[in-house]
Amino acid sequence: MEKVKNVVICGAGMMGNMIALAFSSCPDFNITVWNRREKPCKEVIKANLEQLRDKGILDDAEIEERLSRIAFVFPDKGKEFAEADLIIECVAEVMETKQDLFAELEGITREDCIFATNTSVMSPTEIASKCVHKERVVGTHFWNPGHLIPLVEVVKTADTTEEVMQLTMDALTRAGKKPIYCKKDVPGFVANRMQHALWREAISIVEQGIADPETVDDAVKYSFGLRLPQLAPIENSDMVGTQLTWNIHSYVLKYLADNHEPSPILKKMLDEGKMGFSSGEGFMKWTPEAIDKSKKDLNEYLIKMVYGK
Ligand SMILES: NC(=O)c1ccc[n+]([C@@H]2O[C@H](COP(=O)([O-])OP(=O)(O)OC[C@H]3O[C@@H](n4cnc5c(N)ncnc54)[C@H](O)[C@@H]3O)[C@@H](O)[C@H]2O)c1
Repeated sequence: MEKVKNVVICGAGMMGNMIALAFSSCPDFNITVWNRREKPCKEVIKANLEQLRDKGILDDAEIEERLSRIAFVFPDKGKEFAEADLIIECVAEVMETKQDLFAELEGITREDCIFATNTSVMSPTEIASKCVHKERVVGTHFWNPGHLIPLVEVVKTADTTEEVMQLTMDALTRAGKKPIYCKKDVPGFVANRMQHALWREAISIVEQGIADPETVDDAVKYSFGLRLPQLAPIENSDMVGTQLTWNIHSYVLKYLADNHEPSPILKKMLDEGKMGFSSGEGFMKWTPEAIDKSKKDLNEYLIKMVYGK
């Protein structure tokens, strides 16, 4: 295969639909969305395209053109699978489901078809374990919302060939994504390892009574959070100098959270039914209006960051 052209998205939930939307941004791709039962996927994708239109990013003709390149298939796996160059699975986060799906797909696809898994946390190596051709399996970890967050972590297993890595990176680049090459299949890949190191410290600061939850979030939003999209940790370390980084780490690292289990205050909140947005209280209290505002503000912020609108 020279280039990926025919893309099949397997599992049309929150991630699958938005990944299909992302691929539709490039006319190179014929896209198929498959689900085990019929769902209003086209309507969901259209509504999200219309949100971009309302921001002046797309017009109606572009929406129609993009939708015309997406086929919706329920539940049979037919010729779209036989002709697929790249299949991205977005089914439930259950190891056996993903393993069995890939093993089944080997019987109905070309030998050079790439199998990508959108697992958030599971090992792509383990997901490939029931495949004969493990070299075709790769991790492609999209972030939610899949049509707005550019990053996709492309994860190489011990078996993934360099050709599969490059074809996948190229397809994602053409789909307008920012693929990054993860050389090893490790839990949390690259970005979630850093994200959860920060969450662990944030929760530890609350747990120790150093600051209340709102203050912890403010400390991020009004300081390094503002400059992170422009100045990330490694460049920042070089900017301040490796000597200063070494001095700071020599002094402070021993005081930072290094727990290998979730914080006891998370367990306490779970026992008390404080589930976050879904129950109206987590670390903070949430009214339905505040929840709607949080979600709306995030979407608008991301559209502004990605499209400048
Ligand atoms: N939601 C996120 O923020 C996020 C982010 C990155 C990655 N992921 C990963 O993407 C994948 C999909 O997540 P989602 O949030 O879109 O889930 P979802 O529940 O919204 O959608 C899952 C889809 O898979 C289908 N499905 C479920 N079990 C199946 C089975 N046994 N066989 C065939 N189809 C089945 C469902 O019908 C549904 O359409 C998961 O692996 C998840 O961990 C999720």
